[in-house]
Amino acid sequence: MPVVIALPTGRVRDTCLDIIEGSGMPAKKLRNAGRNLVVDDGDYRYILGKPSDIPTLISQGLADLALVGNDVTEESEVEMAELIDTGRGRCFMAIAGPPAVAERFTGQPSPLMGLRVASKYGRMAQRTFESWGAHVKVLHLNGSVELAPALGLVDCIFDIVQTGNTLRANGLVVVKRTEEVSLRLVANPCALQLRWESLRDAVDSVRDFVNGG
Ligand code: PRP
Repeated sequence: MPVVIALPTGRVRDTCLDIIEGSGMPAKKLRNAGRNLVVDDGDYRYILGKPSDIPTLISQGLADLALVGNDVTEESEVEMAELIDTGRGRCFMAIAGPPAVAERFTGQPSPLMGLRVASKYGRMAQRTFESWGAHVKVLHLNGSVELAPALGLVDCIFDIVQTGNTLRANGLVVVKRTEEVSLRLVANPCALQLRWESLRDAVDSVRDFVNGG
């Protein structure tokens, strides 16, 4: 039975392929996958999914392991075992908005009360503001959240930032950096219990790779 690893498409796809390859797992077919979403290579099966769908692939037992950002794991309600912080694919979570909104973040929580916030990460956004004692209105959007302040829909956004180019292009600035993000190796907890001997090599090789071994 192959070891099944779920990998995210999009922004972090290439970084994930570098981790797979650097860890000594077969990556050639994966690099040439084109639009194939399931790639079998040797003892491994790779499933490519949208980052936000990776927790479902894990929870439904379709994948034993996955590489995914902690932005996704923290937003998800799915129970996953985090095994390794790869330190790769570094980004950060931030509140961003038009420069004028920054003033509301300088005082006590009260100026934040009633703030309207757009995010793909509704649960994390709510938790972040709650931790500051601020009650805000979070509007869930599936993407292009940077549009929302420009359209007057919200005061600010809570989003992942990598280069900052998307914010700059939309006239937004980082108001508060809240959490660091990197790719994590996660596992289905049942697979860990039942199939550890099969998974051990993959997990150890990722650990060796990220530790520079
Ligand atoms: C994220 C985020 C920003 C962008 C930030 O979207 O929501 O839009 O990346 O990256 P930057 O700081 O390098 O400009 P992502 O591409 O992950 O997904 P989406 O386009 O599907 O929302």
